[in-house]
Amino acid sequence: LLSPINGMSQILANYDEDKVPALILSDPFVSEKGRLIQSITDWEKIRRSEIVRLFQDKVYGQIPSDFEAISFEKVNETANPYPEIADLEEVNITVKRNGKSHTMRINFFLPKDGKGPFPVILLINYLPKYADGTLVDEAFWPVQELIRRGFATASFHAETVAPDIAETFQDGVISTLYPEQIGQANGMKALGAWGWGAMRAMDYFEKHSKLDSKISVLVGHSRTGKAALWASANDPRWAFTYANESGCGGAALSKRKFGETVGAINRRFPHWFADNFNQYNEKEEDLPIDQHLLPGLIAPRSVYYSSAKGDQWADPKGEYLGLQLGSRVAAEIYGKKAAFDQGFEDLEGPVHLESVGYHIREGKHDLTWEDWSLFLEFMEKVEK
Ligand code: GCU
Repeated sequence: LLSPINGMSQILANYDEDKVPALILSDPFVSEKGRLIQSITDWEKIRRSEIVRLFQDKVYGQIPSDFEAISFEKVNETANPYPEIADLEEVNITVKRNGKSHTMRINFFLPKDGKGPFPVILLINYLPKYADGTLVDEAFWPVQELIRRGFATASFHAETVAPDIAETFQDGVISTLYPEQIGQANGMKALGAWGWGAMRAMDYFEKHSKLDSKISVLVGHSRTGKAALWASANDPRWAFTYANESGCGGAALSKRKFGETVGAINRRFPHWFADNFNQYNEKEEDLPIDQHLLPGLIAPRSVYYSSAKGDQWADPKGEYLGLQLGSRVAAEIYGKKAAFDQGFEDLEGPVHLESVGYHIREGKHDLTWEDWSLFLEFMEKVEK
């Protein structure tokens, strides 16, 4: 459901391609000092870190990852809904820093069929209906189908790390473990905190004898798609990153001002992005970067975007262009067969290349079985 405020800004947003401003986008292959970047070494040593720093300072804020201790405790409080095909593990992850600790909860299903180690798919979930367990099986999170295909599935709810509420988002990991982030113009906000949660889940995967953390997938839909992208840009342990309909502040180019804009998102969700991002409300053209630089931070690992035709608020064309331009890092720096030659208007089906993929489907803003099955096809192709 749309809240009245969001409903109004969605109605007033621009959906006219003719009103999209001419785009001036920064070049991924020219450093701030004007050096032409053509090698992996120059990309990783010079340009990549410049871009990470800009996203951190201007868009998302930091993801501090230092802590003193991390521990994992199996709690098993819930009855396993799929005992024939999977084992359920519920795990409390406790992280300590400066004498304080925060505990987050994660759920896993491990296939019973086979010994493993199993590739693992992690969903960062935020829907209220899953708040107390994320165990529900449906198109959005097709646990049983993924298990049948040999994956372990894992999920956590965003609120186990940071509430998705402007007034209280700090009442989780931020005020407990990283209070010095509060008030910094590039301090950690909710998207960064959710990404931090994904990293702690990965800490567990790496220690688990039945999980193959080398074939790991980080999945987010919409707001958690934004978080998944930023987490993966910060944490090279994810082999695949899948952002579904992540839109403004995720896959889509901000400078197009099509559908949701920087001002609209910052006003409605002041707790998601770094405070500095407000400088670009109604001034997207002043951004020193845009979202086309995000996929390159994930390269040469695989990144997948999907859009829905009925989700113009997320700007499908802006998402596609972001990936098309962003995939140049995979193609030109890392030599992947990742060149997108098709214009958005000419797309006839999914584009599944080496380490980058995209599809757009009919229908509205949602994560559906069609999205999953196309993403899994892409994965299979990359794995071969
Ligand atoms: C709102 C918001 C989007 C976000 C979406 C979601 O529509 O404006 O930026 O992606 O919620 O998370 O479903």
